[in-house]
Amino acid sequence: MRKPNIRPLSSIPSLERFENMSLRLDLLLAFLLLLSAASSVYSCPPSDHAALLSFKAALHEPYLGIFNSWTGYDCCHNWYGVSCDAETNRVADINLRGESEDPIFERAKRTGYMTGTISPAICSLERLSSLAIADWKGITGEIPSCITALPFLRILDVIGNRLSGEIPTRIGRLSRLTVLNVAYNLITGEIPRSLTNLSSLMHLDLRNNRIRGSLPRDFGRLRMLSRVLLSKNMISGTIPESMTTIYRLADIDLSLNSITGQIPASLGRMPVLSMLNLDSNKLWGRIPATLINSPVSNLNLSKNWLNGEIPDVFGQRSYFTVLDLSHNNLRGPIPKTIARAAFIGHLDLSHNHLCGQIPAGPPFDHLEASSFAYNDCLCGWPLKGC
Ligand SMILES: *[C@@H]1O[C@H](CO)[C@@H](O)[C@H](O)[C@H]1NC(C)=O
Ligand SMILES: *[C@@H]1O[C@H](CO)[C@@H](O)[C@H](O)[C@H]1NC(C)=O
Repeated sequence: MRKPNIRPLSSIPSLERFENMSLRLDLLLAFLLLLSAASSVYSCPPSDHAALLSFKAALHEPYLGIFNSWTGYDCCHNWYGVSCDAETNRVADINLRGESEDPIFERAKRTGYMTGTISPAICSLERLSSLAIADWKGITGEIPSCITALPFLRILDVIGNRLSGEIPTRIGRLSRLTVLNVAYNLITGEIPRSLTNLSSLMHLDLRNNRIRGSLPRDFGRLRMLSRVLLSKNMISGTIPESMTTIYRLADIDLSLNSITGQIPASLGRMPVLSMLNLDSNKLWGRIPATLINSPVSNLNLSKNWLNGEIPDVFGQRSYFTVLDLSHNNLRGPIPKTIARAAFIGHLDLSHNHLCGQIPAGPPFDHLEASSFAYNDCLCGWPLKGC
């Protein structure tokens, strides 16, 4: 590059037009260079820098050295797991995952482990859009309640730690939140009332915690929800009918709780529901016929108090990779129409009070005796003849 011509503009004879133009270009280039240098110096605002250092100070990561790169002034470049918004130059993402394919884990030949707590200092990262502190196994303390004041937060993923305390009461303020994942922690308390205000929420995962109380009656307000995973908590009460009005809902896992009442028939009329796990609860009454001929392909109702007969309404829409009705009080025969199902991969009808001849047909060709064991008087292949 040519050196900038530093003659004052006034001294340029008006006829030297070409020279004049090249001077302007040179000045422009110099100016742009200065600008880019300045913007990289200031790309991490001091307040964000301080917040990240406080966040780091509350954590201890002994094996991988993920925080070794968190030095120097510019938190927006080369700080492990940190990224900034290109326009605002504010910290937008913190993405720290203890189980990932990053080379840092391959080199250490182990998964992540970290102790300490999540510092409320992160709440001064006003532009934070994604906070993932996942699978570190040893992080304790509570989810700082001040995160509900981060208006741009879209993803909150703290799966796989030892976090305790409750889901922040005012979680419903996070109007942009699409992912709430606090699974595999020690979270207690009830599902906050405000949760159903999360109008952008698509993925709710609270599995394996100690959450009790009932599901909010107005659950159906979560119009964008596609997955709700609440397995292995202490949730009681009934399945809210309003949940069945969520058009996009594809996966419902309420297994291993203390949910009572009957299974709403409207579950079987949900347009895209494909997984319905209600196993290990206290559900009673009959299996709704709607569930047998529905888009649901993974249906586990095992270990409840269901009674009556298995609805005799199998047909071409009955396509089950899993159909587990074991450990209930089902009576009567195995319905004849079951032989008309489009597909049944894994069938378990064991531990009921079924009686009669096992139907023959393609869905049964690959099944084993264990699928039918512990009933009152089932007979025929794969059990002994009638
Ligand atoms: C849900 O949001 C509405 C409107 O912003 C508000 O009036 C209401 O108090 C919120 N509900 C809860 C339980 O926070
Ligand atoms: C269905 O649920 C029961 C009880 O929770 C569980 O033991 C079983 O493995 C599940 N079935 C399948 C096929 O996943």
